Amino acid sequence: MSQTRQIIDIEGRVAVVTGAGQGVGRQIALDLAAHGAGAVVVNDIDAARAQRVADEISEQGTKAMGLRCDVSNFDAVGEMFATIQEAYGPVGVLVNNAGNQGGDKAPPSQPFWEQGPAEWYPSIGVNLHGVLNCARYALGQMVNASGGGRIVTVISDAGRVGEINGLEAYSGAKAGAAGLTRALARLGGRYQVTANSVALGATRTPATEEYLADPDMRKRVLGQYMVRRVGEPTDASGMVAFLASAAAGWISGQTIPVNGGYSVTL
Ligand SMILES: NC(=O)c1ccc[n+]([C@@H]2O[C@H](COP(=O)([O-])OP(=O)(O)OC[C@H]3O[C@@H](n4cnc5c(N)ncnc54)[C@H](O)[C@@H]3O)[C@@H](O)[C@H]2O)c1
Repeated sequence: MSQTRQIIDIEGRVAVVTGAGQGVGRQIALDLAAHGAGAVVVNDIDAARAQRVADEISEQGTKAMGLRCDVSNFDAVGEMFATIQEAYGPVGVLVNNAGNQGGDKAPPSQPFWEQGPAEWYPSIGVNLHGVLNCARYALGQMVNASGGGRIVTVISDAGRVGEINGLEAYSGAKAGAAGLTRALARLGGRYQVTANSVALGATRTPATEEYLADPDMRKRVLGQYMVRRVGEPTDASGMVAFLASAAAGWISGQTIPVNGGYSVTL
């Protein structure tokens, strides 16, 4: 009698998804729950958003909690991981998804040579320091518990091709996060912890809705994509769930593009 193998299996692990109150992160949290996470922690800087998604997951039968925390704040991240360990045990999956393109989400509008730390820090704080902070605490729990683990970091094509028009610091932060992820892969491998990045192209979320609604912008964006449509959160979450699963245990240190074939030559 043949038996089917469940390819994407999160194996009852405790999963933490940052910035999961909406958009790509929300879908990742839902998918990790649907694929067998033992508990899902929905982090966001916006408490109400985090709680709404945690409630959605709980209603579908997986343990979940919403935790408000700014991932760029080292001490607050330490407290968040302590709370998680106390409630559910050691973290087995960390998805670094929280991100923004600048202060209050919008990229800086002035030319690069008129920008300064006030424009750069909001982006670097979330997209790079956020990954450092969360990985530091998650990896500590994974190593101490000796159960292995998965770290998946959501970066952007901006970090691979280098975007301008206000996205200079964002590009640097995302490229930094990918480099850090490779270092985590090297460090974590001996503990059966893998670390990979997923580089997204333009994906429809609350952050991009307005920009992608502009017909000219849409035409320009889609013209660069082999698969002529924008990405959906489910395009991203499928890859993240796979990398977080048991089946991806021998994939580490990689950056996987999920972008309709945009960066095929890179
Ligand atoms: N949507 C796209 O086209 C696209 C393209 C490339 C990469 N990305 C990346 O995908 C990830 C998700 O993007 P999205 O489009 O879903 O964004 P979004 O703005 O819709 O959602 C991001 C969530 O992160 C939360 N957040 C922001 N700063 C935080 C912080 N300091 N601590 C904790 N939570 C915080 C926000 O409150 C929000 O709920 C980001 O890392 C983004 O850079 C998105």
